[in-house]
Amino acid sequence: MNEHVNAPADGDGTMPAPTRRTFVRVLTGMAGAAYVAALGYPVYKYLGTAADEALQEASVKEVALDAAHLPLNAALMFKFAGRPAMLIHHSDDTWSAYSAICTHLGCTVAYEPERGRIHCACHGGVYDARSGRNVSGPPPKPLTPFQTSVVEGKVVVSRA
Ligand code: FES
Repeated sequence: MNEHVNAPADGDGTMPAPTRRTFVRVLTGMAGAAYVAALGYPVYKYLGTAADEALQEASVKEVALDAAHLPLNAALMFKFAGRPAMLIHHSDDTWSAYSAICTHLGCTVAYEPERGRIHCACHGGVYDARSGRNVSGPPPKPLTPFQTSVVEGKVVVSRA
């Protein structure tokens, strides 16, 4: 069977009609490209999202919290650049703020006012509420501290 029966003669300035073989090759190429795109896009999206988030987190330098009325010896959980953070209003009317991410395996820590400490329930890690220093349990290093200041009735938390 001749695949070129409907093809115009060479030399008349027109393109020859595609053969069945050419059509199958183009179709196979398009299917392959679609397959690669289907596999690659989620990876690209994941890596792009992680990079975007890191840039966004780095760009946040401070946050102003409406926490001036937070009672003494209480804590406020908030997000700093999309990550959990904690503002503590100490009984002497001073403030401390830390990342609320445990330095052991990344659980979110909680303030325990009755014991004056920050506790991680995952593996019993304990931090000092005044300094963020790791005092017992598995955490290998202190909580990341933030600076605090009171400006026009708001508590401003910024990177140290
Ligand atoms: S994750 Fe906090 S002590 Fe293990």
